[in-house]
Amino acid sequence: MARCGAGVTLLLVSLYALLPAITDAGLQEGFYKSNTNCTADVEATVASVVQQYVSADRGVGAGLIRLHFHDCFVKGCDGSVLIDPSPVNPDPEKGSPSNGGLRGLEVIQDAKRQLEGACPGTVSCADILAFAARDASNILSAGAINYGVPSGRRDGLASAASDATQSLPPPFAELGRLTELFAAKGFTQDELVTLSGAHSVGRAHCGSFAERIRPNVSETMDAEYGAGLQRRCAEDAGDGAAVFVDQDQGTPADLDNQYYGNVLAGKVLFNSDWALISDNTTRQMVEGNAANQAQWAAKFIDAMRKMGALDVLTGDQGEIRRFCNVTNSG
Ligand code: HEM
Ligand SMILES: *[C@@H]1O[C@H](CO)[C@@H](O)[C@H](O)[C@H]1NC(C)=O
Ligand SMILES: *[C@@H]1O[C@H](CO)[C@@H](O)[C@H](O)[C@H]1NC(C)=O
Ligand SMILES: *[C@@H]1O[C@H](CO)[C@@H](O)[C@H](O)[C@H]1NC(C)=O
Ligand SMILES: *[C@@H]1O[C@H](CO)[C@@H](O)[C@H](O)[C@H]1NC(C)=O
Repeated sequence: MARCGAGVTLLLVSLYALLPAITDAGLQEGFYKSNTNCTADVEATVASVVQQYVSADRGVGAGLIRLHFHDCFVKGCDGSVLIDPSPVNPDPEKGSPSNGGLRGLEVIQDAKRQLEGACPGTVSCADILAFAARDASNILSAGAINYGVPSGRRDGLASAASDATQSLPPPFAELGRLTELFAAKGFTQDELVTLSGAHSVGRAHCGSFAERIRPNVSETMDAEYGAGLQRRCAEDAGDGAAVFVDQDQGTPADLDNQYYGNVLAGKVLFNSDWALISDNTTRQMVEGNAANQAQWAAKFIDAMRKMGALDVLTGDQGEIRRFCNVTNSG
């Protein structure tokens, strides 16, 4: 009897070990590995496309990380940020001022094209974007930030600019508003501070921080840094969409904790960046991240995984889009 019981237990344990771990949100790592439609290695395909684009222009990697954030914070990680305007949906999320300057869309489109060739109708755009943001983080951090991405997301059917404008924080936001918008998605202030570290890569257009340098450099900004921005942005004759600057002037293509040193030095572009030291509690978090790269990287991984599970569609919800920029019904 005892031997038989142990055998059954062993069998159950072995079976359990074979099943992929199911996460809270109903996603699982390696979701596509068990899909009989797909003999291609889905994640390796995405990784190689990301590698190719990011080798040519590391800024595209920054674009992918931002795209994933903007997808997940608005109606969940459902690919809604990818939708182009069309006659049936003239004002999707892309039309929101919060989505100005998005880039990296061609990477998602290219990966999708390859995967539709290998296994049509199977891999969601939302998953491709989640994989791509992970791959970009990995490359830009020289391997410091790498993590498994639970998958099985489905693509959403709706995308509206007003949703993006409501859910995404504007660059002029104060700490209270930032805290509120992140709390609305289940994130703590520590996670807000941790995720803001993504502003150690990529760029911003002059219009995104104009009020911090015009007419005068803000008192919350380093004077010399501000004067440099004024000179660069003077070349932009229009509405601030033509000229852009690096967020981290030291190592703009390296995803690391340098951002926190920049915040403390007043060398960051947005009020939302400075706002993290406008309060003693969050200032301590900034100082903690500035002092400990490895601890920040570990927290960034946790927060990215959590972000990737926001309000996802799974099972037979939503659809698998044929093209990432348009829903299947047009
Ligand atoms: C805390 C509130 C945040 C605000 C107010 C904010 C705002 C902005 C703005 C205005 C830009 C520049 C857009 C442009 O002018 O081209 C930007 C860029 C960027 N943001 Fe944020 N962001 C926030 C949080 C985040 C988070 C949580 C992430 C990801 C984890 C992120 C990742 C990025 C990246 C990587 C870029 C550079 C994109 C590129 O170079 O194309 N941001 N952000
Ligand atoms: C979607 O992208 C493809 C390829 O870039 C393009 O030809 C098509 O017009 C786009 N669809 C919409 C609705 O913009
Ligand atoms: C397999 O591919 C077909 C389209 O070719 C699709 O309708 C079906 O949902 C796919 N099955 C799975 C399990 O992804
Ligand atoms: C900008 O600086 C100048 C010179 O210091 C000062 O006269 C002016 O009042 C300032 N303008 C604003 C809006 O603070
Ligand atoms: C915040 O810290 C500063 C100095 O570090 C101190 O003078 C101030 O009283 C603190 N404020 C609060 C509300 O604790």
